[in-house]
Amino acid sequence: MSSPALLPTKAELAAARPALPAPVVLVPTMGALHSGHLALLRAARAVAGPGGSVIVSIFVNPLQFRPGEDLDRYPRTLDDDLAMCAREGVCLVFAPSAAEMYPGGAPQVTVDPGPAGQVFEGEFRPGFFGGVLTVVLKLFHLVRPDIAVFGEKDAQQLALVRRLVSDTESVPTVRDPDGLATSSRNRYLSPADRELALTLPRALRAGQARAGAENGAEDGGSASAALAAAREVLDAEPALAVDYVAVVDSRTFTVAGPGYAGPAVIVAAATAGGTRLIDNVPVMLAGADRRSTERGLRGAADH
Ligand code: PAF
Repeated sequence: MSSPALLPTKAELAAARPALPAPVVLVPTMGALHSGHLALLRAARAVAGPGGSVIVSIFVNPLQFRPGEDLDRYPRTLDDDLAMCAREGVCLVFAPSAAEMYPGGAPQVTVDPGPAGQVFEGEFRPGFFGGVLTVVLKLFHLVRPDIAVFGEKDAQQLALVRRLVSDTESVPTVRDPDGLATSSRNRYLSPADRELALTLPRALRAGQARAGAENGAEDGGSASAALAAAREVLDAEPALAVDYVAVVDSRTFTVAGPGYAGPAVIVAAATAGGTRLIDNVPVMLAGADRRSTERGLRGAADH
C-alpha cells in the first residue's frame, strides 16, 4: 500500500500529469470520503486497469454553497481520506485551497447549467449547479482525464455533467445497511434524525416497487402511480420536511408525465433534524396508466 502523492497546487499537478500512465481516471470529490466514495474509487481503479492511473481531487468548492449553507461546517478529514486513497491504489490526490483554485476570488465567468439546472436541486439551491459545473470543468482542464467517475446518488449533477461532456462513467448510489444513501452530511444526523431520514429511501423504494409492479401489469407502470406511492410514505411522516419529490425523465430531468415510457428517476429531497438529504432511485416506466386522472397529471411534479 503506497501513499498517493498529495499535490496542493496546479503547478505541481501540471508537472506530475505527463508522467501518469494512461488511462487517467479522475474522481472529483469534496473529501470526507465514505463508503459511497469507496465504490467510486474501486470503479475508477477497475476502469483504469492495472496499468492506468487514478487521481482523486479533494476540494470543498465554495462556489456551490450559498451564504448560510454549511461551507464552514462541511467535514474535512484529509488524513482519513488519504488513507482510503492509499488503500484503493490512488496514485495522486489533488487537494487545492480555495485561493489556489480561484486566485482572483469568485470567478466572474461561470458555467450556466441551462434549464435542467434550474429545477429540483437547482430550485432549492440557486447557483448550486453553476458552481458544480464551473469547478468540474476547471478540474477537467487541469487534470485532463481520459475518464471521470461520478456517483448516481447525485443524479441531477450526473445528468448535467453528462451534458457537459460525453465520456463520463457513473457508479450506483451506495447505501448503508439501513438503506440511507451514504453522504458526508450523514455525520450531522443524531440517531433520531437518522430514523426520520430513513423515510426518504423508504418512500423511493415504495415508488420503485409500484412502478415495477405496474410494469408487469396490464396497465403498464406510470409516473403518477410511482409518485403517489412515494408521496404516501412521505405524507405519513410529517416531521420530515420535504422539499420535493418527483418522477423525471433521467436524460433530460424534465418531469415525466403519466404517458411517459422509458428510463426515469424518482428524485426527492428532505430535511431531517436540520440536515438536508437528497436521494433517488431509477425506474423503467412502461407508459400510460389507463387509470390516470387529471389528479394524477397534476401530481406528476409534486413540490
Ligand atoms: O459531488 C461532489 O462531491 C461535488 O459536487 C463535486 C462533483 C466534487 C464538485 O465539487
